[in-house]
Amino acid sequence: MTTSSAPGKIILFGEHAVVYGFPALAVPITQVQAIVTVTERDGTPGEIFIEAPDISLFSNLESLPSDHPLAAVIQSVLSALGISSPPPLTVHVTSTIPVASGLGSGAAVSIAILRALSAFFGQPLPDERVSALAYEVEKLHHGTPSGIDNTVITYAKPVYFIKNQPIEIFQVAKPFTLLIGDTGIASPTRAVVGDVRKLWEAEPVRFETIFDSVAGIARKARKAIESGETHLLGALMNENHALLQEMTVSSPELERLVEAARAAGADGAKLSGGGRGGNMIALVRPANAKKISAALLKSGARQTIITTITGLNV
Ligand code: PMV
Repeated sequence: MTTSSAPGKIILFGEHAVVYGFPALAVPITQVQAIVTVTERDGTPGEIFIEAPDISLFSNLESLPSDHPLAAVIQSVLSALGISSPPPLTVHVTSTIPVASGLGSGAAVSIAILRALSAFFGQPLPDERVSALAYEVEKLHHGTPSGIDNTVITYAKPVYFIKNQPIEIFQVAKPFTLLIGDTGIASPTRAVVGDVRKLWEAEPVRFETIFDSVAGIARKARKAIESGETHLLGALMNENHALLQEMTVSSPELERLVEAARAAGADGAKLSGGGRGGNMIALVRPANAKKISAALLKSGARQTIITTITGLNV
């Protein structure tokens, strides 16, 4: 039996612009995890049974369509390892990462499966390979993903990410506390990314200007985090949120939570991830975190997570 886990993630700055080659910052969130266990069982060789109770999926691999993300990731690891006839196996998948809400649940499940299966066969894949294979599966979830989710979740470190460039892990000089608020509204990233692409195609100059401003914010934020000037992050979050509003990816529910966080004393707040639902984040002082969390729950948040980013929270 082999078990592997992978954390969730949150984008701090730069979502959407990152799809077009601009930088973004993301950090792992270890309070939520995908956990995968692989066990040998009785049965016919080659038969792989998938149990994913969170999504009520109990199925043989061969009964799933080949583009089903769970089937695709299992097939990809078998072919990467050159295994054509595995022993009968059960792949058990559970996750506490909310689905379609910007916390990277799809990538985390893929990465935990890649690691658990490759370890089970005694050929653990190196991080670079895990991230690349998970990226292929991300394309099924997202259409044209930037690759930020599979990167930050594979390395489980704060990442300054630019599409198609070597990853840059950044240092966190001074811990800072984030409050994550979930609207409870599932919003598939693929659709929102597609809508932004149409707007960008219609008004390329305006959108490139917005993305450029986002990139400036991401660069300033990285500097602030690396130099311990975390008090600067709140204003940068507010600026980034205003640019995301211009991209049309906010929603009434996200606005309500962002406003509630600011009104309750957060130093800044923004939506995080694809938008139109999913999660928002706020920069909070540890002493205020519970109070602001209560304000978010009162304003309709389905759940909140308080997390301290230390750079070592892996
Ligand atoms: O945080 P998520 O999984 O919703 O990812 C969205 C991030 C985008 O920049 C909007 C898309 C991407 O592929 O980077």
